[in-house]
Amino acid sequence: MQKQTAFIFDLDGVIVDTAKFHFLAWQKLANKIGINFSEKENEQLKGVSRVKSLEKILSWGNKTLSDEEFQRLMDEKNQDYLNYVKQMTEADILPGVNSFLDDLKAKNHPIALGSASKNAKTILKCVKLSDTFEAIIDGTVVSKAKPDPEVFLKAAQCLNTTPSNCIVFEDSIAGIQAANAGGMTSIGIGDKNTLHEADFCFSNFLQFDYPFFKNIKMKA
Ligand code: BG6
Ligand code: MG
Repeated sequence: MQKQTAFIFDLDGVIVDTAKFHFLAWQKLANKIGINFSEKENEQLKGVSRVKSLEKILSWGNKTLSDEEFQRLMDEKNQDYLNYVKQMTEADILPGVNSFLDDLKAKNHPIALGSASKNAKTILKCVKLSDTFEAIIDGTVVSKAKPDPEVFLKAAQCLNTTPSNCIVFEDSIAGIQAANAGGMTSIGIGDKNTLHEADFCFSNFLQFDYPFFKNIKMKA
């Protein structure tokens, strides 16, 4: 069993700023079908699967669709989203992330990706992080969306460690709840008020450094 503290990273909004692309693509699609939603409502879409996101948007507009139309709109949103993603390079990795990952690797900490996205591997390739994580748990292998802890529990299992030995980085409310539900120490990346359920919260990766985690009080 792995004794070194393990680190699990969400992808969208933690490693890369794709959260803004999700917002733009969903907003464009929603507008087309006569639904408007704000950045505040968008917080509820972060960390949430593609299917659940569209369900939420439709519920905000009191709309129902046939299965075929639902699938067509999800595909349309994803194509639009991928047009943004495909333009990304290593330069789009959020500030401080690379050097923090380097520190963890230098100290032999196990690291995994825990993302709801089915596009995770495409994004990692664009930003040249395909070989960084020991385990990649993404939307193609989980059946229960965050706030269910499945994605993070699977990541811990792949890293051969226990949940109480894991630290999770998340930018979404659903993701923080998932980490907490899994018995892991949760670190919010973003606004403290929005992510108030996190054990610790920072606005970005420049606000802390590796030594912080040497003395951190883990959840369990
Ligand atoms: C999460 C994002 O990481 O992935 C959500 O925060 C998104 O906004 C979800 O809906 C699923 O992503 P994708 O790329 O499979 O549509
Ligand atoms: Mg995220």
